[in-house]
Amino acid sequence: MDAPISRYHEVYARAMRDPEGFWGDAAQAIDWYEPATKVFDKHAGVYGRWFTGAVCNTCYNAIDRHVERGRANQAAIIYDSPATQTKRVITYAELLLEVATLAAVLRDFGVAKGDRVILYMPMVPEALVAMYACARIGAIHSVVFGGFAAKELATRLDDCKPKLILSASCGVEGARIVHYKPLLDAAIDLATSKPEACLILQRPQCEASLTAGRDHDWATLRAAALADNRTAPCLPVLATDPLYILYTSGTTGIPKGVVRDNGGHMVALAWSMKNHYDVEPGEVYWAASDIGWVVGHSYIVYAPLFHGCTTILYEGKPVGTPDAGAFWRVIAEHKCVAMFTAPTAFRAIKKEDPNGKLFARYDLKNFRTLFLAGERADPATIEWAEQLLKVPVIDHWWQTETGWAIAGNPMGLGMLPVKHGSPTVAMPGYDVRIVDDQCVEVPTGKMGSIVVKLPLPPSCLPTLWQQDERFKESYLAEFPGYYKTADAGFKDADGYLFIMGRTDDIINVAGHRLSTGGMEEVLASHKDVAECAVIGIADAMKGEVPCGFIVLKAGVNRAPEEIEREIVALVREKIGPVAAFKLAITVPRLPKTRSGKILRGTMKKIADGETWSMPATIEDPKVLEEIGGALKGRVGA
Ligand code: COA
Ligand code: AMP
Repeated sequence: MDAPISRYHEVYARAMRDPEGFWGDAAQAIDWYEPATKVFDKHAGVYGRWFTGAVCNTCYNAIDRHVERGRANQAAIIYDSPATQTKRVITYAELLLEVATLAAVLRDFGVAKGDRVILYMPMVPEALVAMYACARIGAIHSVVFGGFAAKELATRLDDCKPKLILSASCGVEGARIVHYKPLLDAAIDLATSKPEACLILQRPQCEASLTAGRDHDWATLRAAALADNRTAPCLPVLATDPLYILYTSGTTGIPKGVVRDNGGHMVALAWSMKNHYDVEPGEVYWAASDIGWVVGHSYIVYAPLFHGCTTILYEGKPVGTPDAGAFWRVIAEHKCVAMFTAPTAFRAIKKEDPNGKLFARYDLKNFRTLFLAGERADPATIEWAEQLLKVPVIDHWWQTETGWAIAGNPMGLGMLPVKHGSPTVAMPGYDVRIVDDQCVEVPTGKMGSIVVKLPLPPSCLPTLWQQDERFKESYLAEFPGYYKTADAGFKDADGYLFIMGRTDDIINVAGHRLSTGGMEEVLASHKDVAECAVIGIADAMKGEVPCGFIVLKAGVNRAPEEIEREIVALVREKIGPVAAFKLAITVPRLPKTRSGKILRGTMKKIADGETWSMPATIEDPKVLEEIGGALKGRVGA
């Protein structure tokens, strides 16, 4: 079945047979101040730690060493912002100066190794500069996606207790200016843990008023440090020290603080650039994601620079900035060789320009591969992209927790045959199994829970921020000896994985990971709501969108439509626009089992117009008819 030229099987087998030898070799792509005393120490951390004893600096590996070795004048970042009609090229040498200068400013605020710094920023070069500056001085950054509301930001403040927050006056979302400062102020008011100071980047699109004594103007401090030639050197840190915390949706409204280390992260990401993405140093690579997500962290900010590539920072959308040809323009103009985005972006383009008229205007001769991840890549979208682009379209599967692909098609090792609907095969270091509830492997082709045998490879989370117990409970307890991915799927006879959906309450909306449990908490907080359920329903563009069902308290006499509008506004206010929560439906009651469990799965099937069978344990079968009736005219059921 496999193309004969692929080295995949041999490489994968070696990583399984001799993980320390394999990752020890991969570590040679990184510059270390001190090598590891152990490539993998099974006695350290919760399930072992990679590169214990090694001393390194992530910023040095991303920037300084390339300046020292001949890339000073190569573009490190190409900032392309159709949202603001701005373009800017930043060379490695220029980036080094910016980063070392900002690092000095951070140190002026007393930010030291291990201190947390929150970034609540739009897609501007300063955000990347800030991330590298934190890495340079051993501070731990935590980037919060700009589409989250104040309450979500406050939760993260209280969990990681940052010394400093870096933010900007605004983001630009198409025609909408997102004023960050009021959200930031509200979050700080809500949080128990207040930062000592905030650094605010004033953008020309809107000027924010600064809070005296707390807020500082970013540009003024930068200019002063530059004028004094003040820079901060790279601080050697342990490979096992945290580089960043990235919060991701958990099964409750409290997000999980995924910790990423310095050493393992660099090794795995550097390995992936050549072996998975088949990109050479010096080439231009583009991940069209957001720095607030893991894809942005790994493949906008870090991996391309570890590998000496040029990264594109795109502040715009696939459509509407200004049209559905935007991606082709960026690829052509910047001679991009590989691009990585979510299938939803391609669905958006396909909807606006199904025949690829805009595509025909651009010359994509340098472009070799399109990579998709973040949600299930539906075969129709892949086929459309393949026919249009005439390059391989590669689906790969990963999670915030892993930081790089669990399964993919390693282009640099020789492409394996593509099977639509499958992200191909397990990457080296991941021993992926499909198991039943008893943790027994299921036969080929049969659906089950997808788990990864411990230890996880480098870059995967060693724990949750200061919550070893929650880490064990959430990921390691259910299937002893294995990491629970919370995805369900199957493996075929060629070892290809098929990822079919989550086993928890997480839904994937336009490639954004959201917790329906978190949304239910918001719905339940409305004064007129007695009971509620939120499910993800199929959406042609976003893959899934949330749909909330509410049961009103007895005696509520207001019009349901009015309450539904309030509910929609409440989710936007509490979680943020990114939740894309636009549909609340009032029902007389919710379908439940006799033991009181809400039948969300059956509700979803009804909403999606799929065939469904009456659950044997249902309390009252009539309720499902009521749900079907309530959905009529509201969704495509
Ligand atoms: N700051 C503030 N608001 C933001 C935001 C940000 N960084 N990102 C998104 N939002 C807002 C949007 O403006 C939208 O608001 P609205 O309800 O007022 O329209 C809302 O959050 C929902 O955003 P989204 O789901 O992204 O929908 P969209 O209609 O703006 O765009 C796509 C749809 C498909 C074009 C867009 O989702 C996309 O480009 N996706 C690419 C996928 C991606 O980046 N995935 C990340 C993982 S790889
Ligand atoms: P995130 O942590 O935001 O990257 O979301 C991770 C989740 O997105 C996974 O657990 C999957 O449910 C889903 N996902 C990511 N990539 C894929 C893919 N290629 N195919 C199917 N689902 C995916």
